Amino acid sequence: MHNLCPLRTDWTEIVSHGDAPDATALRSHLRAVHRENAGFTERCAMRCRDTDGRTSYDWLIDAVDGSQHRKILDLACGSGPLLELCHQRFPAEVDLVGVDMAPEELALAKARLPVGRARLIEAQAQSMACLSDNSVDIVLCHWALTLMDPVAPVLAESARILAPGGRFAAIVDGDMDMARGYRNVHDLIYGYVQVELPQYGAFDLGDPRVRDTDSLADLTRRAFPTASVEVHPNVVTMRGSAETIAEEAAGFFYAAFVLPPDRRAAMLTDLAAYLCANMDQGEQASFAMPINRLVVTLP
Ligand SMILES: C[S@@+](CC[C@H](N)C(=O)[O-])C[C@H]1O[C@@H](n2cnc3c(N)ncnc32)[C@H](O)[C@@H]1O
Repeated sequence: MHNLCPLRTDWTEIVSHGDAPDATALRSHLRAVHRENAGFTERCAMRCRDTDGRTSYDWLIDAVDGSQHRKILDLACGSGPLLELCHQRFPAEVDLVGVDMAPEELALAKARLPVGRARLIEAQAQSMACLSDNSVDIVLCHWALTLMDPVAPVLAESARILAPGGRFAAIVDGDMDMARGYRNVHDLIYGYVQVELPQYGAFDLGDPRVRDTDSLADLTRRAFPTASVEVHPNVVTMRGSAETIAEEAAGFFYAAFVLPPDRRAAMLTDLAAYLCANMDQGEQASFAMPINRLVVTLP
């Protein structure tokens, strides 16, 4: 369940005046969202599957080569679903590390893993002094790079801690028009949000270059000049009753947290009606999300 108080932070205050928020405001906004709603990402992401039946977590873990990657960092690990999957998939000799800036998320990650199975560190992705140079074989980052601004230091830090032959792999937002209906759901939610905060949407959470395939590849090549860089699109979909899918899908949009309870309820009713009118399989409603998987392999 979401906290029912509409979220107001320095970030929303600055945006409401039409100004561009800085990195400090972004950090405190994200901290506020995750303090009140820890674990919300996985509630939606675990329900969404691609045509091969994989969640985006499964697809990201496919980038791990179990024979070579003996130390895995989950960057911005949140409540730890990816660490738990790594724990289930790889033997105990594979070291697991999670970094996140939200202590409430890290507490959930700690609770779901066997004691001592992963080293969990509260830190900013832009500054991971807790990890030494060339000490990690693969950095995984599920649905968080999109939120990071500045993002160049995150990539530079990842390049610093990765060992030769290592890999950086991330799931990020894909092109909105790759998933049927996604733009309509986005616009419906943002329509409600912009009644409260007319400038919401003029400024992204995070660096907008991460949301575009070409600029993401370009940014990445600058941080990893000698590496191979691949970006692949995919779509993950969840199905269920229109009311459930409306609630879960809206829960994935940071924008929806700024709505007061009555406006949120009205938005969910509208969204459920939209999903009902656009059922694609039998009697089930669906919500499809476009994603990209970035895979960077060092020589
Ligand atoms: C959308 S959630 C994803 C959580 C998790 N990876 C998952 O997919 O379930 C984004 C996470 O990124 C973390 N985060 C955002 N910016 C960060 C930064 N600059 N440094 C460290 N963590 C950050 C947040 O605290 C939050 O836990």
